[in-house]
Amino acid sequence: MSSGRPTTEETGAEARDRLPPRPIRFAARTGWDLSENQLASVLVEARRAGRALVDFTESNPTRCGIAETAPLIARLGEPRGCRYAPLPLGDPAARAAVARYYQERGLDVDPAGVVLTASTSEAYGWLLKLLAERGDDVLVPVPSYPLLEYLACLEDVSLTPYPLLKEEGWRIDLGALERAAGERTRAVVLVHPNNPTGSFVRRDDAAALEACARERGLALIVDEVFGDYAHGDLPADRLPSFAGRRQALTFVLSGLSKVMALPQLKLGWIAVSGPPDLAAAAMERLEVIADTYLSVGTPVQLALPEILAARAPVQRAILERVRTNLAALDAAIAARATVQRAVRRLPVDGGWYATLEVPRVHDEDGWVELLVREEGLIVHPGYFFDMPRDGFLVVGLLLEPPVFAAAALRLVHRLERALSDG
Ligand SMILES: Cc1ncc(COP(=O)(O)O)c(C=O)c1O
Repeated sequence: MSSGRPTTEETGAEARDRLPPRPIRFAARTGWDLSENQLASVLVEARRAGRALVDFTESNPTRCGIAETAPLIARLGEPRGCRYAPLPLGDPAARAAVARYYQERGLDVDPAGVVLTASTSEAYGWLLKLLAERGDDVLVPVPSYPLLEYLACLEDVSLTPYPLLKEEGWRIDLGALERAAGERTRAVVLVHPNNPTGSFVRRDDAAALEACARERGLALIVDEVFGDYAHGDLPADRLPSFAGRRQALTFVLSGLSKVMALPQLKLGWIAVSGPPDLAAAAMERLEVIADTYLSVGTPVQLALPEILAARAPVQRAILERVRTNLAALDAAIAARATVQRAVRRLPVDGGWYATLEVPRVHDEDGWVELLVREEGLIVHPGYFFDMPRDGFLVVGLLLEPPVFAAAALRLVHRLERALSDG
């Protein structure tokens, strides 16, 4: 009966429907290894066993009880949102609001150079489409956030790492960056401040990088999603933002995901600046890319001016939380002499993460497994961010402070026990 030949009652179409489907040849770029890794299995096991877990890696602000964002959702009800009249680069008032957001920080951003996107991730994708052919490469900082690997893969673009130097406050290794740039390099990515190191670029390094980009025909793609979250006054030698800079073709990325802790609204942007001819040519092409997708929803664009204008209390609440949690972590470490001697919380200037340098009595997977199995604490291994070597754990700082403080104490006690066992 499985020959596919029609029986007396069957039509030919029905017989074809019974045939097994021919395999589909999916694009090789999607041939990812999607099997569960060891750490994921440990987590599944812990959840199955009904273990209460505290997720120190939580970076979704909508799950961290930031009450200040709730009233902003009501701003999406503007009646003009009933009409669909899309403009590729975005609603003019929304683009002007983004420019104002920078201008209020003293940065010279022109609304004409603002492109709205659905997210920062989408902005990266559009910029890779704009700048790179299949097989071209972009330079990316290491350590940093691992998002780019997939975005580059989806555009058939390669990533070439350039190191940040830990002992120099994660300063860019400019010599290594220049050596890494080859014939097919099209852009340099900066995450500013970097995730998870929380480091801002030095002003003199920024200027040297711009000179290098200008000379070699490279664009700068600067991810500033955490730009509003400097923990205190930045040291004078650090650059607060690349927005509006004119030396090299510069694309500054950000969006509501971090600026307003509203990732679910799906609105990001690119602020384009640079030598005027280059910036204008980039905008012309970006407009076509944006027109192809028209991906930003109308209600959120209409609400953007009001939403951005309401950022101060949201950002104040987040910064206060991040500082409180960091202080709780430091206090927990300081309270245990053995831990204080052996564990270092690396300095951070901004962002929502802290990195612990831990003794290598376990490797990073070993630490993470131990903490999940024995304490119900989820932390990131440093290798997730391509740390320069083994021996780092990364924790997020967004959890509600009482939860964070209790978990930090447990973390430190477990580190202490492991140190005395080891
Ligand atoms: C450094 C960095 N860039 C970009 C993103 C993604 O932002 P979006 O939600 O706008 O795509 C994240 C998300 O955590 C991030 O940490």
